[in-house]
Formats: sequence, structure tokens, C-alpha cells
Amino acid sequence: MADKHEKTVDPHTGTATTGHEWDGIAELNTPLPRWWLWTFYACIIWSVGYWVAYPTWPLVSDYTKGLLGYSERMNVTESLQAVRNSQAKLNDAIVNDSFADIKANPLLLNFAMAGGKVAFGDNCAGCHGRGAQGGLGFPNLNDDSWIWGGSFEQILQTIQYGVRGDHPETRISQMPAFGVDGLLTPSQISDTAEFVLSLSNLPHDSAVAERGKAVFHGDGACASCHGEDGKGNQEVGAPNLTANIWLYGGTKEAIMNQITTGHGGVMPAWSGRLDPATLKKLAIYVHSLGGGQ
Ligand code: HEC
Ligand code: HEC
Repeated sequence: MADKHEKTVDPHTGTATTGHEWDGIAELNTPLPRWWLWTFYACIIWSVGYWVAYPTWPLVSDYTKGLLGYSERMNVTESLQAVRNSQAKLNDAIVNDSFADIKANPLLLNFAMAGGKVAFGDNCAGCHGRGAQGGLGFPNLNDDSWIWGGSFEQILQTIQYGVRGDHPETRISQMPAFGVDGLLTPSQISDTAEFVLSLSNLPHDSAVAERGKAVFHGDGACASCHGEDGKGNQEVGAPNLTANIWLYGGTKEAIMNQITTGHGGVMPAWSGRLDPATLKKLAIYVHSLGGGQ
């Protein structure tokens, strides 16, 4: 049995032993592979260079900054600035390019649609609904039925200046309150409502509707705004009454209520509140929803 501290050469492998031995099993002193050793030294040298060049050692209230002045925060700030610069370029293009040019440029169009969708959620969804489906008194913007027109320009104008709002260029049109102001008797109102039902092919009493038809076409009554055929007039924001699409409801009761009070919903103006690029993005987004005209 070899002495514990005696270093010998192992007869089987020809390798020196470390002198450690347990129960007759000696530990060979195999040298570290050369490649491993050099890699190890290279790492040490590299790490020293790293300490000098980059932020490394924590100090009490600070850290060693390194000669290159690198910091993650600076990196983030720089890349944010780069994003902002490229967005500013896209926004400029949105403002300056024509609608047709924007539509023909997939990058711009995507940018406009994405921005329009976010701005819609932030500013419009409260009244028009998340999916722009509308609600009682708030038009559905997904259908291709437009009160004020569905061309890109018409939609942009509605968004910029609003409807019956306080902007000097707001769209204005007021249906008279035929009932409240005593312009029509309750039975005339009931007859006319019956006729309006017939215009949208809803169940109605033909004889009563026939009486309502006369009122509808009377002087200064309904046809002057809604048209002889009842198809509406975008010039004065008079809705189409023949499509069975209703802002205030398509029951006889709702229609009588409309003729009695005239309603007059308010859509706020967004010019001045939103920047020109956002307004245009919104118009592009809304135009795409309804398969705009
Ligand atoms: C305070 C509620 C309200 C908000 C907020 C609002 N709208 Fe409206 N919007 C209305 C009402 C009410 C009308 C219908 C006006 C009318 O009776 O002619 C309307 C009409 C419209 C129309 C015309 C629809 C048509 O058929 O011609 C468009 C387009 C429109 N809104 C887009 C928007 C966009 C885009 C936003 C967000 C920037 C927005 N609205 C925010 C209430 C609102
Ligand atoms: C001065 C123009 C004008 C005249 C006249 C007029 N309307 Fe209207 N009408 C409107 C406008 C504008 C609206 C939309 C009101 C709103 O958006 O708040 C409207 C809305 C309606 C609606 C609601 C449509 C919906 O989608 O819910 C009905 C129904 C209607 N009118 C029927 C009539 C009848 C019937 C008469 C005649 C007794 C009449 N209107 C006369 C301008 C007019």
C-alpha cells in the first residue's frame, strides 16, 4: 500500500498520481487539456478588458461606468427616439398625401389603420361602441348607410367639425319637432309613422299609411328633407327611411316619438382636440369599416 503523500507513476496509464489514495485506488494527476486551459486564460483576460470597458462592479450607491459609457437606458432612449422619428415621418406623409396615395401605400395604410383603431377606442367608442356598432341615437359606422355621406372626405368633415356641435363649421340640420311645436296633430303623426313603416317594408296598415303619405309629401313636411322617395338627403343629414336602419328605432312608437320631438343628436367636433394626422387616420379607419363610398 502506497504512502498517502507519495506521488508515484501509475503503471497502467503512465500518468503521475496526485498522492491521494483511498482503499487502494489512487487519483491520477491528469493534466487539464491544453485547449481548456487557454480558453480559461483568454476568459480572464477578456473579463479584465470587460471591467474596464463596460459597467461592471457595484459600488455603494453607484457602479463602475466603464470607458465606453454604455447603458441599457441610453439604448432604450435611442431606439425610442428612432421609432419617434420614423413615426413622425409617417405622420407627415399621412397629413400631406392624398387619400388615394395613402390607400396605394400598404405601409402607410397599415400605419393609418392601426392608429385610427387606437384613436377610435380612445375617443369614439364611448358613443359609437367598441366595434363601432352604434346604439340608440348613435349611428352604426359598420354598415354602408351614411347620414352625412360615406366618402373619405365626407367622413373626415363629420369627424373634424361634428354634427350640431359648437364648432363654427359644424354640420347642422334640425328636424322640426312636429308634435311638440304643434305642426302636426297626433293623428297625423300616427298616420305618417305608419307610412314611414311602409317605406322600410315593415308591417303596416295600408289605408292608414296612405293617409300618412299625403302628410309626408305635404308642403314643408317630410319629403323636403327626406326626399320624395324617402331615401334621405346627405346634404341636410336627413336619414334614409327606406333601408330599415334606424338611429332612433324602427317601431311605430319610436318613429312617432321622432316626429314628435325631432331629436337632434350631437356629435362633437374633433378638430383642435386631435392632431391632423390622427383625424385623417380616424377617417381612413371609419371609411374601411363601412366599406365607405
Ligand atoms: C358624444 C357622443 C359621440 C362621440 C364621442 C363621437 N360621436 Fe360620432 N356621432 C355621434 C352622433 C350622435 C352622431 C349622429 C349625428 C346625427 O344625428 O347626424 C354621430 C355621427 C358620426 C358619423 C356620421 C355617420 C353617418 O352616418 O354619416 C361619423 C363618421 C362619426 N360619428 C364618427 C365619429 C368618430 C370617428 C368619433 C371619435 C373621434 C366620434 N364619432 C365620436 C356621437 C358621437
Ligand atoms: C328639416 C329637415 C327635416 C324634415 C322637414 C323632416 N326630417 Fe326627419 N329627420 C331629419 C334629420 C336631420 C334627422 C336626424 C335627426 C338626428 O340625427 O337626430 C331626421 C330623422 C328622422 C327619423 C329617424 C330616422 C332614424 O334613423 O331613426 C324619422 C323616422 C324621420 N326623420 C321622419 C320624418 C317625418 C315623418 C317627417 C315629416 C313629418 C320628417 N322626418 C321631417 C330632418 C328632417
